[in-house]
Amino acid sequence: MSSAARVPEYPIEKLLLERNSPREFTGEPITEQELMTLFEAARWAASSYNDQPWRYVYVMQGDSQWQAFFDLLVPGNQTWTKKAAVLVVVVSHKVFEKTGDVSPTHSYDTGAAGQNLALQGFAMGLAVHALGGFDFVRARELLKLPEDYAVEAMISIGRQVVKAPGEQKLTQRKQLKEIVFRGQLKFASST
Ligand SMILES: Cc1cc2nc3c(=O)[nH]c(=O)nc-3n(C[C@H](O)[C@H](O)[C@H](O)COP(=O)(O)O)c2cc1C
Repeated sequence: MSSAARVPEYPIEKLLLERNSPREFTGEPITEQELMTLFEAARWAASSYNDQPWRYVYVMQGDSQWQAFFDLLVPGNQTWTKKAAVLVVVVSHKVFEKTGDVSPTHSYDTGAAGQNLALQGFAMGLAVHALGGFDFVRARELLKLPEDYAVEAMISIGRQVVKAPGEQKLTQRKQLKEIVFRGQLKFASST
């Protein structure tokens, strides 16, 4: 984590550069309209065979199931997530609906939809933060998932705490040369 500005190596859309995962929420609710707008953004993601394997199960603060979702999170995530307005468990269908064959890209597709959701949220001034720190087994039990569905992640959503310029700590990224290769992947140890 660094408070340095994000500088792309090549110019990209501002939204892509500025989106971030805040660990603070104001504690205010968000509206059903706002929440559904986020899922609408996810809905339009690309997917293999347009199978759209992503599924979202959400609770809003105050719902009777809130505590059960919240309890899935590891303590380190609970500390800052307790003021979120919404918690989502992201699930994917592992097989193509049309053929029943295993989809090798169900997680990729669902991740792409998650990024759509995150970008839409950021554009709307909401805080959207994906979570892997939770009990995947208990999430599966809680949602009574059949074998052909996978638990992918959780997402916390809420209203952003407004920060003064420079106060916001933004993460940085690896260099392009560390992640992009022409013809042959080079591993860090072999460079
Ligand atoms: C699938 C996934 C799981 C994540 N899990 C957690 C988590 O459990 N706790 C947490 O604080 N951040 C979590 N993050 C947030 C990442 O740490 C964050 O996206 C990364 O540091 C880059 O920062 P940025 O999103 O602000 O650009 C997760 C992000 C993703 C995409």
